[in-house]
Amino acid sequence: MITLLDTIKARRSIHSFHEKEVEIDILKEIFTYGSYAPSHYMKEPWEIKLYQGEGKDLLIDAIMKSYQRIGMIPNNQEPKTVKMMDSMRSFLLAIPHHAVIYFEREEDPVRYEEEYAAVCAFVQNCQLAAWEYGVGMLWTITPYMHDSTFYKDIGLDPEDKKIAAVMQIGYPKKIPSAKGRTPIDEKLEIIK
Ligand SMILES: Cc1cc2nc3c(=O)[nH]c(=O)nc-3n(C[C@H](O)[C@H](O)[C@H](O)COP(=O)(O)O)c2cc1C
Repeated sequence: MITLLDTIKARRSIHSFHEKEVEIDILKEIFTYGSYAPSHYMKEPWEIKLYQGEGKDLLIDAIMKSYQRIGMIPNNQEPKTVKMMDSMRSFLLAIPHHAVIYFEREEDPVRYEEEYAAVCAFVQNCQLAAWEYGVGMLWTITPYMHDSTFYKDIGLDPEDKKIAAVMQIGYPKKIPSAKGRTPIDEKLEIIK
């Protein structure tokens, strides 16, 4: 029997996915497991925008425009740029699902940290649950998450909402080998 402890160690970040979509009921189960994450005052601050099928066009267009706006891709239509954009677009389109995970911004920095921490716990719970369903995820943080026009392009008010992560989701084509971790004794200071 595979235990949660096995899953914690076996899970890998997935960078290449099969084209096949994950059934929506499975994704809902995964997000439901995610939602058992702790949150202060039971705020359950996580919100999810799930892009799949033709819905991905909207997200990927917004990403491309943001990349050009913030200078990650040159802002011109030269053949080299067009080629680069086409290849980035195809790469992103080939990923079956993208989930934008966001939460309501809190003015108070302590509250903000609480909400962000809870959303990160949600994301990791989702990653672990996904692994048990044979579904792979990649947790990404990218510059467009700080571009207010990008927020507006996907229908979020940047004054009100904060994107915590963009998850790439699908059935893994390749599972990277184990990475191992730094022995915990190197991180642990016991004060007696
Ligand atoms: C907050 C956060 C942001 C991450 N952002 C990226 C990213 O933008 N691109 C990427 O390839 N991996 C990203 N990762 C995945 C890490 O690279 C990965 O978790 C790490 O290399 C360990 O590999 P493992 O998840 O397979 O154990 C991110 C992970 C976290 C927790």
